[in-house]
Amino acid sequence: MSLAVVILGAGEGTRMKSDLPKVLHPLGGQPLVVHALDTARKLTDLPPVLVVGHGKEAVEDVVGDGVTTVEQAEQLGTGHAVLQAREALRGRADRVLVSYADMPLLRAETLGELVGRQRKNPGPITMLSLIQDNPRGFGRVVRNEHGGVAAIVEEAVATPEELAIRELNAGVYCFDGPWLWDHVDQIPLSLPKEEYYLTDLVGMAVDEGSKVEAVVSRDADELLGINNRVHLAEAERVLRQRINERWMRAGVTMVDPATTYVGPDVTLGRDTTLHPNTHLRGQTVVGEACVIGPNTVIEDSEIGDGCRVTASVVEEAVMEDGSDIGPFGHLRRGARLCEGAHVGNFGELKQSTLGPGAKMGHFSYLGDADVGSGANIGAGTITCNYDGESKHPTVIEEGAFIGSDTMLVAPVRVGKGAKTGAGAVVTRDVPPGALAYGVPARVRKKDEATDDDQV
Ligand code: UD1
Ligand code: MG
Repeated sequence: MSLAVVILGAGEGTRMKSDLPKVLHPLGGQPLVVHALDTARKLTDLPPVLVVGHGKEAVEDVVGDGVTTVEQAEQLGTGHAVLQAREALRGRADRVLVSYADMPLLRAETLGELVGRQRKNPGPITMLSLIQDNPRGFGRVVRNEHGGVAAIVEEAVATPEELAIRELNAGVYCFDGPWLWDHVDQIPLSLPKEEYYLTDLVGMAVDEGSKVEAVVSRDADELLGINNRVHLAEAERVLRQRINERWMRAGVTMVDPATTYVGPDVTLGRDTTLHPNTHLRGQTVVGEACVIGPNTVIEDSEIGDGCRVTASVVEEAVMEDGSDIGPFGHLRRGARLCEGAHVGNFGELKQSTLGPGAKMGHFSYLGDADVGSGANIGAGTITCNYDGESKHPTVIEEGAFIGSDTMLVAPVRVGKGAKTGAGAVVTRDVPPGALAYGVPARVRKKDEATDDDQV
C-alpha cells in the first residue's frame, strides 16, 4: 500500500549566516528543499509533507502547491518535528519515510532500497547508515552481539567506546506508519539539549523486542548534509560531477569537467564539446557535434547540430544547425540564427531573426529585425528600433548588403538585393535592388553617378 514522505526542514540553519532560510539556498540553480521534494515525488504519489519553522512563509512561497506543509513553531528536536506530521498522515499511509530538506544529494534509488527493505522487515524501522572515518557529528549506530541494530547514540551523550564506532546514522528512516504514530509522542526528553530525539525510536523498538534493520550506504556523498556554505560548495561539486559524468558517458567531451556547469534540465547531443567555463542553464537543448565555450553562458535556449558558440551569452534564443556566434556575441530573448547564419565579434540580437546563411561579422545591433537569407550586415550596423516610446520593426530582405555603420531608423524596409552606403542613415524604405546612401539616406537614381560610390 501507500508510502508517505516526511521531510524535516524547520531548523534555523544558523551556520549558513544568512538572511535566506537554509533550505532555500540554491544548489545547481534550485533551492535545496526542491531537490528533496523532487526526490520524494519519485517514490510516491502522496504529496510530500514538509515540516517548516524558520522562514516558514518564504519556504511555502517557493514550494507552492502539491506539498503539505506543517509548522513546527518551536524546534524541540527531530522527534518533535516528525510528531507535527502525525495529524496530516495518520491512517493515510502504511509506511512513512523520514528524510531531511538539507540532504539534497540523496538518490531516489537509495530511498527506494530503504523502503523495499522495510517492506520485508517484520519490525517497525529500517534506517540508513554509512561507514566512514570522519564522524561529522553524526549519531553512532550501536549493534548487538548478533550484529543487529541495538540503538543510536548521539555524539553529545556517547561514551568513548561509542564515539569510536564508525557506523553512522544518516538520519533517514522508513517506519511502519501505525507504529510510528503510536510511538512518536512517547519519546523522552533528552538532555543536555532538551530535545526529543527521533533516534530514540530505534532503542524503543529494540526494547519491545522488534527488529530494526539498516541499509548501509555505499556512497557517502549522497548523505552530505548542508550546514554551512562550505558544505554547499561540496554538494555543488558532487552534483556537477554526477551530471557531467552522465553526459560524458553519453558522448559529450568536456575539456575540463571541473569548470563545466550543466543544469539538471539541460540536454546535450553526442560529439558535442564543452570548453572550460561553460555554463548551460535552464531548459537548454544543445544538439550534436557543437563546440561550446570557452567562457560561455547559455540559458533557456535551443542550439541545433554543428553550431559554435565562443565566449558568448545566449538567452532565450534559437540557433539552427550550423550557425555560429562569437567571440563576445549576445543573443537575447527571441533571437534566432537560421541555418548557417554567422554572428562575429560584438554582435547583439534581440527579438530578431538572421536568415539562412546571413552574416553579421562585427559590432552590430539588431532589435525587432527580420533579416532575409544571405544578407550581409556590415560592421557597426544598428537598428534604431526604439523612438523613446515604442519599438518598431526593421525588415532586411534576402541578399541585401548593408554598408558599414548604417543606421536603420525603424520602421523601415530594405528591399531584396538592395544596398546601403557606409554611414547611411536610412529613414525611408529602400526599394529592391536600389542603393541608398548619405545622411539622411536617399536612393540613387539609375543614371546618377557619384564620386563616393563605395559602400
Ligand atoms: C541528526 C540525528 C543524527 C544523525 C544526523 C545526520 C537526531 C537526534 N540525530 O542529528 O543521529 O547522525 O541527523 O545528519 O535526530 N529539524 C527540524 N526540527 C527540529 C530539529 C531538526 O525540522 O526541531 C530538522 C533540521 O532542519 C534538519 C534535520 O531536522 O534538516 C536534522 O536536524 P539536525 O539538528 O541537523 O540534527 P543532527 O544534530 O545533525
Ligand atoms: Mg545536521
